[in-house]
Amino acid sequence: MVGDSLAEDSVPVLGDADVDLGREVLLQLVDITKVYQLGSVRFQALTSVSFEIYHGEYVAITGPSGSGKSTLMHLIGCLDVPTSGQLLIDGKDVSRLNELELAQIRNEQIGFVFQQFNLLAPLTALQNVELPLMYGSHTKRERGERSLALLERVGLADHVKHRPNELSGGQQQRVAIARALVVGPSLILADEPTGNLDSKNAFDVLTLFDELHASGRTIVVITHDSEVASRASRIIRIRDGKLEPTQ
Ligand SMILES: Nc1ncnc2c1ncn2[C@@H]1O[C@H](COP(=O)(O)OP(=O)(O)OP(=O)(O)O)[C@@H](O)[C@H]1O
Ligand SMILES: [Mg+2]
Repeated sequence: MVGDSLAEDSVPVLGDADVDLGREVLLQLVDITKVYQLGSVRFQALTSVSFEIYHGEYVAITGPSGSGKSTLMHLIGCLDVPTSGQLLIDGKDVSRLNELELAQIRNEQIGFVFQQFNLLAPLTALQNVELPLMYGSHTKRERGERSLALLERVGLADHVKHRPNELSGGQQQRVAIARALVVGPSLILADEPTGNLDSKNAFDVLTLFDELHASGRTIVVITHDSEVASRASRIIRIRDGKLEPTQ
């Protein structure tokens, strides 16, 4: 499954997405509830949330501030577990896993793209992209080749030795996207990926997502921006912790 798309001696390209373009379910949320307990105060951030996301889909999750988007993203990204309900990834229930097991799923199956890029400042673009491969069994050469191919793919072949502070915001986000792709994840999960970008750079990042989707990747974008959401092929709307019925 994960990583299988990248044969041992092959260099990944975006078209290598490990997907079945049939309607196989990648993510299934069943009656998910999330309750935060702050001292004696109990706050229910998600109530009875159920939906499915299929392999190869491009889905936007949108809703007003405080509606529960980041809470949902943390669950889908295996950064947190629900209070009740089930979350299945490729049929495996991840909602009761311990921290170590969750970390393994995160490292192998999910490529994260954050609003703040989250690149490591002392490392070059190439080293940042290579980083997720350090935990696996890849040789130095494999790591370099895969990472370089992805930086070329996101249009940064000329910037591989630049450090984050020597790159524009849009370039940094493209490095982050290359990093998200390098382990061949089942899912690209992006939280407000254009939130810190001007319109030109935002457009470039969204164009890249369009291309990733066209090549079969599964993408989930969390955003409060209706323009960003409109690029997805399906929009899931959330309000006050509950799904809004689809129109
Ligand atoms: N760790 C926490 N402890 C307690 N309450 C929390 C916690 N995280 C979020 N909440 C509450 O849960 C609700 C949903 O928060 P969440 O961050 O998911 O919203 P959001 O839709 O991502 O909003 P935004 O668009 O502003 O990022 C909010 O009322 C928030 O105050
Ligand atoms: Mg949020």
